[in-house]
Amino acid sequence: MRDITIAEATAGDVPALSKLGADTFTAKFGPLYAAADLQAFIDTAHSAAYYASAVASQETAVWKAESVSGGLIGYALAGPLGLPVEDAAADALEIKRLYVSTAYQSAGLGGLMMEVMLGWARAQGDPSLYLGVYSDNTGAQKFYGRYGFRRIGQYQFPVGSHLDLEYIYLKARQ
Ligand SMILES: CC(C)(COP(=O)(O)OP(=O)(O)OC[C@H]1O[C@@H](n2cnc3c(N)ncnc32)[C@H](O)[C@@H]1OP(=O)(O)O)[C@@H](O)C(=O)NCCC(=O)NCCS
Repeated sequence: MRDITIAEATAGDVPALSKLGADTFTAKFGPLYAAADLQAFIDTAHSAAYYASAVASQETAVWKAESVSGGLIGYALAGPLGLPVEDAAADALEIKRLYVSTAYQSAGLGGLMMEVMLGWARAQGDPSLYLGVYSDNTGAQKFYGRYGFRRIGQYQFPVGSHLDLEYIYLKARQ
């Protein structure tokens, strides 16, 4: 992980975050969807407006991982719980996104960004921390398991008009 920095993203990072978000989602999940569904999802969930709002929000945190050459190679996003969880504590938080560019995966960068997010949650009193993960994404599920997340539910995640089965994972308050 030499020559890679992780820092909170700022407004100036929005165009690069929008591109990286679209590219990493498409690289991992693109083949699952009809072109129109994928495009509709990218146009909203990875729009510049989406990232600008996330970066500007006091409640949401966005981190970027940057290589020495200056390019973004990963990002992470966390904030208040938005997943459909019944009886969640009012202060529950959610890891909303965690993506590493394909060429940099399995080298520890995702783990470093996870540690940053766990530190962010600890600084807020270490409340229950949730995340959603695609049901067939066994690689990410194994990764989250290493950090103490356990599956507690499921829901349907829309990508355009397509619905994915997504699992809800929880790292309970310690
Ligand atoms: C999941 C992700 C963020 C992890 O980041 P990373 O930098 O690759 O993770 P680390 O190097 O810290 O840890 C690697 C571990 O993650 C797990 N893992 C992640 N992706 C995996 C995959 N596609 N296949 C198998 N294991 C995977 C494994 O346990 C792996 O350990 P190993 O290399 O010893 O087998 C990254 O792989 C990624 O962006 N994947 C594609 C997008 C994605 O699935 N994001 C999560 C959406 S919920």
